[in-house]
Amino acid sequence: MKKEEIVRKGYDEIALKFKEFRNIFDNLQELEHLATLLPEKAKVLDVGCGIGIPVARFFVDYGFSVTGIDISERMVELAKQNVPKAEFFQYDMNELVFPDNAFYCITAVYSLFHVPREKHFSILKSFHRMLKQEGILFFCVGHLGGDDTDEFLGEEMFWSNYPPERTLSLVKEAEFEILFDEVLDRGDELQYWVFARKK
Ligand SMILES: C[S@@+](CC[C@H](N)C(=O)[O-])C[C@H]1O[C@@H](n2cnc3c(N)ncnc32)[C@H](O)[C@@H]1O
Repeated sequence: MKKEEIVRKGYDEIALKFKEFRNIFDNLQELEHLATLLPEKAKVLDVGCGIGIPVARFFVDYGFSVTGIDISERMVELAKQNVPKAEFFQYDMNELVFPDNAFYCITAVYSLFHVPREKHFSILKSFHRMLKQEGILFFCVGHLGGDDTDEFLGEEMFWSNYPPERTLSLVKEAEFEILFDEVLDRGDELQYWVFARKK
């Protein structure tokens, strides 16, 4: 089975349990910093938006115009209920067809690492294409390289990462300027976090 299909089925099954698992304030510091980098009412695309909490809701509360996409139909349904002021679509991040220069900000919080790493570069390039000039990309991936299939909240799940140095060079190769990159401990989890600006 395609890895994206394992992930989609897994999140469809765990959608109702996810909120309990997600510590919604783990990323507040980074989100607040991100908000300071964006103009008023900026258009934000949240990739792998999950149930819309905390990221999409945070941006809506700041007055930004938010679009969320997620591969899991059940996660998208919950996001629509949780954040009625944003718009949500069931899309695979590998196949995004939003127009060029459509968003001022793209976020991918705990989501890119569910896609096989060989595809990370083409996804980063599509983020670059959809961002406006000077637009901001904010994402995290795991801090250890490798592919991993394991159980997550009772369902089969897949993760895939490059080591941070390789992810960093891919972001640069995709023509982003790095604003911040570091392995951070959030909610007792280490992830590699990146803020970058479209050149
Ligand atoms: C760990 S959750 C994080 C959700 C949300 N970003 C958050 O911070 O709570 C990962 C999300 O990424 C979504 N996802 C995984 N692979 C995806 C893909 N190829 N395209 C779109 N969404 C994907 C999953 O369905 C899931 O909702």
